[in-house]
Amino acid sequence: MELFEKTILITGASTGIGKELALRLAAQNNRLILLSRRLELLNQIKDDAGNKNQQIDVFLCDVSDHEQVKTVFKSILDKHKTIDISILNSGVSFRNSIEDFDASKAKKTFDINVMGVIYCIEQLLPMYMKEGRGIITGVSSLADARGFAKSGFYCASKAALSIYLESLRSELKPYGVKVITIKPGFVKTPLTDKNEFKMPMLMSVNKAVDIIIAGLTKEKTIIQFPFLISAVIKFVKLIPNNLFDYISINHIKITGKKD
Ligand SMILES: NC(=O)c1ccc[n+]([C@@H]2O[C@H](COP(=O)([O-])OP(=O)(O)OC[C@H]3O[C@@H](n4cnc5c(N)ncnc54)[C@H](OP(=O)(O)O)[C@@H]3O)[C@@H](O)[C@H]2O)c1
Repeated sequence: MELFEKTILITGASTGIGKELALRLAAQNNRLILLSRRLELLNQIKDDAGNKNQQIDVFLCDVSDHEQVKTVFKSILDKHKTIDISILNSGVSFRNSIEDFDASKAKKTFDINVMGVIYCIEQLLPMYMKEGRGIITGVSSLADARGFAKSGFYCASKAALSIYLESLRSELKPYGVKVITIKPGFVKTPLTDKNEFKMPMLMSVNKAVDIIIAGLTKEKTIIQFPFLISAVIKFVKLIPNNLFDYISINHIKITGKKD
Protein backbone atom coordinates (compact mmCIF):
# COMPACT_ATOMS: atom_id res chain seq x y z
CA MET A 1 0.00 0.00 0.00
CA GLU A 2 1.46 3.39 -0.95
CA LEU A 3 0.52 7.02 -1.48
CA PHE A 4 1.79 8.65 -4.70
CA GLU A 5 2.14 12.21 -5.98
CA LYS A 6 0.06 13.83 -3.26
CA THR A 7 0.80 17.10 -1.49
CA ILE A 8 1.13 16.13 2.17
CA LEU A 9 1.69 18.45 5.14
CA ILE A 10 3.22 17.00 8.32
CA THR A 11 3.62 18.87 11.61
CA GLY A 12 6.23 17.56 14.04
CA ALA A 13 8.27 16.13 11.18
CA SER A 14 11.70 16.67 12.76
CA THR A 15 11.91 13.38 14.71
CA GLY A 16 10.10 10.11 15.45
CA ILE A 17 6.89 9.19 13.63
CA GLY A 18 6.74 12.48 11.68
CA LYS A 19 10.31 12.14 10.40
CA GLU A 20 9.85 8.51 9.34
CA LEU A 21 6.57 9.39 7.60
CA ALA A 22 8.35 12.24 5.77
CA LEU A 23 11.21 10.05 4.52
CA ARG A 24 8.87 7.26 3.39
CA LEU A 25 6.35 9.56 1.72
CA ALA A 26 9.13 11.47 -0.06
CA ALA A 27 10.48 8.18 -1.44
CA GLN A 28 6.97 7.49 -2.78
CA ASN A 29 7.07 10.67 -4.92
CA ASN A 30 4.83 12.83 -2.76
CA ARG A 31 5.33 16.58 -2.38
CA LEU A 32 5.94 17.32 1.29
CA ILE A 33 5.44 20.37 3.50
CA LEU A 34 7.23 19.76 6.79
CA LEU A 35 6.88 21.82 9.97
CA SER A 36 8.50 21.83 13.40
CA ARG A 37 10.46 24.15 15.69
CA ARG A 38 13.86 22.67 14.76
CA LEU A 39 14.40 23.80 11.18
CA GLU A 40 17.91 22.31 11.10
CA LEU A 41 16.44 18.82 11.57
CA LEU A 42 13.90 19.41 8.77
CA ASN A 43 16.74 20.53 6.47
CA GLN A 44 18.61 17.35 7.40
CA ILE A 45 15.56 15.31 6.29
CA LYS A 46 15.71 17.16 2.94
CA ASP A 47 19.36 16.15 2.62
CA ASP A 48 18.56 12.54 3.60
CA ALA A 49 15.81 12.40 0.95
CA GLY A 50 18.53 12.55 -1.77
CA ASN A 51 17.12 13.19 -5.25
CA LYS A 52 13.61 13.70 -3.80
CA ASN A 53 14.72 16.82 -1.89
CA GLN A 54 13.20 19.20 -4.48
CA GLN A 55 9.78 17.90 -3.46
CA ILE A 56 10.25 18.91 0.18
CA ASP A 57 9.45 22.34 1.58
CA VAL A 58 10.28 23.06 5.23
CA PHE A 59 8.85 25.64 7.63
CA LEU A 60 9.81 26.61 11.15
CA CYS A 61 6.59 26.62 13.18
CA ASP A 62 5.72 26.34 16.85
CA VAL A 63 2.15 25.03 16.63
CA SER A 64 1.34 26.37 20.09
CA ASP A 65 1.95 29.95 18.89
CA HIS A 66 -1.35 31.05 17.34
CA GLU A 67 0.05 34.08 15.50
CA GLN A 68 2.99 32.10 14.11
CA VAL A 69 0.65 29.34 12.87
CA LYS A 70 -1.47 31.98 11.06
CA THR A 71 1.61 33.51 9.38
CA VAL A 72 3.27 30.21 8.44
CA PHE A 73 0.08 28.63 7.04
CA LYS A 74 -0.60 31.76 4.99
CA SER A 75 2.85 31.37 3.36
CA ILE A 76 2.23 27.65 2.82
CA LEU A 77 -1.18 28.13 1.22
CA ASP A 78 0.00 31.08 -0.91
CA LYS A 79 2.78 28.88 -2.25
CA HIS A 80 1.16 25.45 -2.49
CA LYS A 81 -2.51 26.42 -3.11
CA THR A 82 -3.78 22.95 -2.21
CA ILE A 83 -2.93 20.17 0.26
CA ASP A 84 -4.27 16.64 -0.22
CA ILE A 85 -3.44 15.28 3.23
CA SER A 86 -2.58 17.19 6.43
CA ILE A 87 -1.02 15.04 9.14
CA LEU A 88 -1.20 17.01 12.39
CA ASN A 89 1.31 15.02 14.37
CA SER A 90 3.17 17.46 16.68
CA GLY A 91 2.94 16.33 20.29
CA VAL A 92 4.67 16.20 23.64
CA SER A 93 4.41 13.95 26.67
CA PHE A 94 5.54 14.53 30.25
CA ARG A 95 5.19 12.14 33.15
CA ASN A 96 3.31 13.95 35.89
CA SER A 97 2.63 13.08 39.49
CA ILE A 98 1.21 14.76 42.57
CA GLU A 99 4.62 14.57 44.28
CA ASP A 100 6.09 17.06 41.79
CA PHE A 101 2.95 18.73 40.52
CA ASP A 102 3.71 21.26 37.79
CA ALA A 103 0.78 22.97 36.12
CA SER A 104 3.10 24.50 33.49
CA LYS A 105 3.60 20.98 32.07
CA ALA A 106 -0.17 20.59 31.76
CA LYS A 107 -0.39 23.93 29.95
CA LYS A 108 2.41 23.01 27.56
CA THR A 109 0.82 19.61 26.87
CA PHE A 110 -2.58 21.13 26.08
CA ASP A 111 -1.10 24.08 24.14
CA ILE A 112 0.73 21.69 21.78
CA ASN A 113 -1.37 18.49 21.71
CA VAL A 114 -4.79 20.15 21.58
CA MET A 115 -4.58 23.86 20.70
CA GLY A 116 -1.66 23.24 18.31
CA VAL A 117 -3.87 20.94 16.24
CA ILE A 118 -6.86 23.29 16.44
CA TYR A 119 -4.76 26.31 15.31
CA CYS A 120 -3.61 24.33 12.25
CA ILE A 121 -7.16 23.16 11.47
CA GLU A 122 -8.38 26.78 11.70
CA GLN A 123 -5.97 27.74 8.90
CA LEU A 124 -6.67 24.65 6.76
CA LEU A 125 -10.48 24.56 6.95
CA PRO A 126 -11.33 27.29 4.39
CA MET A 127 -9.16 25.56 1.74
CA TYR A 128 -10.59 22.09 2.47
CA MET A 129 -14.22 23.30 2.61
CA LYS A 130 -13.84 25.24 -0.64
CA GLU A 131 -12.24 22.32 -2.48
CA GLY A 132 -14.65 19.73 -1.05
CA ARG A 133 -12.03 16.99 -0.89
CA GLY A 134 -8.92 15.90 1.00
CA ILE A 135 -7.95 14.47 4.36
CA ILE A 136 -7.18 15.99 7.76
CA THR A 137 -5.40 13.56 10.09
CA GLY A 138 -4.71 14.07 13.77
CA VAL A 139 -2.24 11.93 15.70
CA SER A 140 -3.89 11.09 19.01
CA SER A 141 -3.04 8.00 21.10
CA LEU A 142 -4.51 4.82 22.59
CA ALA A 143 -3.87 6.69 25.86
CA ASP A 144 -7.04 8.68 25.09
CA ALA A 145 -9.13 5.83 26.53
CA ARG A 146 -8.83 6.42 30.29
CA GLY A 147 -6.95 8.46 32.89
CA PHE A 148 -3.84 6.35 33.38
CA ALA A 149 -1.94 7.26 36.59
CA LYS A 150 1.00 9.66 36.20
CA SER A 151 0.11 10.31 32.56
CA GLY A 152 -2.96 12.39 33.34
CA PHE A 153 -2.01 15.53 31.41
CA TYR A 154 -1.13 13.48 28.31
CA CYS A 155 -4.20 11.18 28.49
CA ALA A 156 -6.50 14.15 29.02
CA SER A 157 -4.96 16.04 26.07
CA LYS A 158 -5.30 13.05 23.73
CA ALA A 159 -8.88 12.37 24.90
CA ALA A 160 -9.71 16.01 24.11
CA LEU A 161 -8.07 15.70 20.69
CA SER A 162 -9.82 12.42 19.78
CA ILE A 163 -13.22 13.79 20.82
CA TYR A 164 -12.65 17.01 18.88
CA LEU A 165 -11.63 15.08 15.73
CA GLU A 166 -14.75 12.91 16.09
CA SER A 167 -17.02 15.95 16.04
CA LEU A 168 -15.07 17.56 13.19
CA ARG A 169 -15.46 14.31 11.18
CA SER A 170 -19.24 14.52 11.06
CA GLU A 171 -19.23 18.27 10.35
CA LEU A 172 -16.82 17.90 7.41
CA LYS A 173 -18.47 14.82 5.89
CA PRO A 174 -21.04 16.81 3.87
CA TYR A 175 -18.12 18.80 2.39
CA GLY A 176 -16.41 15.62 1.18
CA VAL A 177 -13.44 16.11 3.53
CA LYS A 178 -12.30 13.10 5.56
CA VAL A 179 -11.01 13.27 9.12
CA ILE A 180 -8.76 10.40 10.23
CA THR A 181 -7.64 9.78 13.81
CA ILE A 182 -4.37 7.92 14.34
CA LYS A 183 -4.04 6.19 17.71
CA PRO A 184 -0.65 4.53 18.21
CA GLY A 185 0.28 2.38 21.19
CA PHE A 186 3.94 2.60 22.30
CA VAL A 187 6.32 3.42 19.43
CA LYS A 188 10.09 3.74 19.86
CA THR A 189 10.82 7.45 19.30
CA PRO A 190 12.52 10.25 21.28
CA LEU A 191 9.14 10.76 23.01
CA THR A 192 9.18 7.26 24.52
CA ASP A 193 12.99 6.95 24.85
CA LYS A 194 12.75 8.96 28.08
CA ASN A 195 10.20 6.58 29.66
CA GLU A 196 11.66 4.51 32.46
CA PHE A 197 8.70 2.14 32.82
CA LYS A 198 8.15 -1.02 30.78
CA MET A 199 6.18 -0.23 27.62
CA PRO A 200 4.11 -3.23 26.49
CA MET A 201 4.52 -4.21 22.81
CA LEU A 202 6.84 -1.27 22.05
CA MET A 203 6.85 -1.05 18.25
CA SER A 204 9.59 0.17 15.90
CA VAL A 205 8.90 3.46 14.15
CA ASN A 206 9.28 1.66 10.78
CA LYS A 207 6.50 -0.77 11.57
CA ALA A 208 4.28 2.01 12.97
CA VAL A 209 4.71 4.04 9.78
CA ASP A 210 3.90 0.95 7.63
CA ILE A 211 0.57 0.70 9.46
CA ILE A 212 -0.11 4.45 9.26
CA ILE A 213 0.59 4.63 5.50
CA ALA A 214 -1.55 1.53 4.84
CA GLY A 215 -4.38 3.07 6.91
CA LEU A 216 -4.12 6.43 5.12
CA THR A 217 -4.16 4.70 1.74
CA LYS A 218 -7.34 2.83 2.68
CA GLU A 219 -8.71 6.06 4.22
CA LYS A 220 -9.55 4.23 7.45
CA THR A 221 -11.40 6.50 9.89
CA ILE A 222 -9.40 5.33 12.90
CA ILE A 223 -5.89 3.92 12.49
CA GLN A 224 -5.07 2.19 15.79
CA PHE A 225 -2.26 -0.20 16.59
CA PRO A 226 -0.79 -2.58 17.66
CA PHE A 227 -3.83 -4.81 17.26
CA LEU A 228 -3.51 -6.57 20.63
CA ILE A 229 -3.10 -3.37 22.67
CA SER A 230 -5.97 -1.67 20.85
CA ALA A 231 -8.17 -4.72 21.61
CA VAL A 232 -7.17 -4.57 25.30
CA ILE A 233 -7.79 -0.81 25.36
CA LYS A 234 -11.31 -1.31 23.93
CA PHE A 235 -11.96 -3.65 26.87
CA VAL A 236 -10.33 -1.27 29.40
CA LYS A 237 -12.67 1.46 28.14
CA LEU A 238 -15.65 -0.69 29.09
CA ILE A 239 -14.45 -1.52 32.64
CA PRO A 240 -16.74 0.08 35.25
CA ASN A 241 -15.21 3.15 36.91
CA ASN A 242 -14.90 1.54 40.38
CA LEU A 243 -13.05 -1.45 38.97
CA PHE A 244 -10.76 0.78 36.89
CA ASP A 245 -9.93 2.85 40.03
CA TYR A 246 -9.25 -0.35 42.03
CA ILE A 247 -6.85 -1.72 39.38
CA SER A 248 -5.15 1.66 38.98
CA ILE A 249 -4.66 2.21 42.76
CA ASN A 250 -3.27 -1.30 43.24
CA HIS A 251 -0.97 -0.89 40.25
CA ILE A 252 0.52 2.22 41.91
CA LYS A 253 0.90 0.28 45.22
CA ILE A 254 2.73 -2.55 43.45
CA THR A 255 4.98 -0.37 41.29
CA GLY A 256 5.65 2.18 44.08
CA LYS A 257 4.61 5.82 44.41
CA LYS A 258 7.54 7.11 42.38
CA ASP A 259 8.59 6.00 38.89
N1 LIG B 1 5.80 7.35 20.40
C1 LIG B 1 4.68 6.87 20.91
O1 LIG B 1 4.68 5.83 21.59
C2 LIG B 1 3.38 7.56 20.66
C3 LIG B 1 2.21 6.89 21.05
C4 LIG B 1 0.99 7.50 20.83
C5 LIG B 1 0.93 8.74 20.22
N2 LIG B 1 2.08 9.38 19.86
C6 LIG B 1 1.97 10.69 19.24
O2 LIG B 1 2.66 10.72 18.04
C7 LIG B 1 3.07 12.06 17.75
C8 LIG B 1 4.54 12.05 17.34
O3 LIG B 1 5.28 11.65 18.48
P1 LIG B 1 6.68 10.88 18.39
O4 LIG B 1 6.54 9.66 19.20
O5 LIG B 1 7.14 10.79 16.99
O6 LIG B 1 7.57 11.88 19.25
P2 LIG B 1 8.82 12.81 18.92
O7 LIG B 1 9.85 12.06 18.17
O8 LIG B 1 9.16 13.48 20.20
O9 LIG B 1 8.20 13.87 17.89
C9 LIG B 1 7.41 14.92 18.30
C10 LIG B 1 7.40 15.96 17.20
O10 LIG B 1 6.55 17.05 17.63
C11 LIG B 1 7.24 18.24 17.37
N3 LIG B 1 6.81 19.29 18.29
C12 LIG B 1 6.84 19.28 19.65
N4 LIG B 1 6.43 20.46 20.12
C13 LIG B 1 6.11 21.22 19.04
C14 LIG B 1 5.65 22.55 18.86
N5 LIG B 1 5.41 23.35 19.91
N6 LIG B 1 5.44 23.00 17.60
C15 LIG B 1 5.69 22.20 16.53
N7 LIG B 1 6.14 20.96 16.62
C16 LIG B 1 6.35 20.48 17.87
C17 LIG B 1 8.72 17.92 17.53
O11 LIG B 1 9.49 18.81 16.75
P3 LIG B 1 10.31 20.08 17.31
O12 LIG B 1 10.74 19.74 18.70
O13 LIG B 1 11.42 20.21 16.33
O14 LIG B 1 9.34 21.22 17.24
C18 LIG B 1 8.78 16.54 16.94
O15 LIG B 1 8.98 16.62 15.55
C19 LIG B 1 2.76 12.86 19.00
O16 LIG B 1 1.55 13.56 18.83
C20 LIG B 1 2.60 11.81 20.07
O17 LIG B 1 1.77 12.22 21.13
C21 LIG B 1 3.31 8.81 20.06
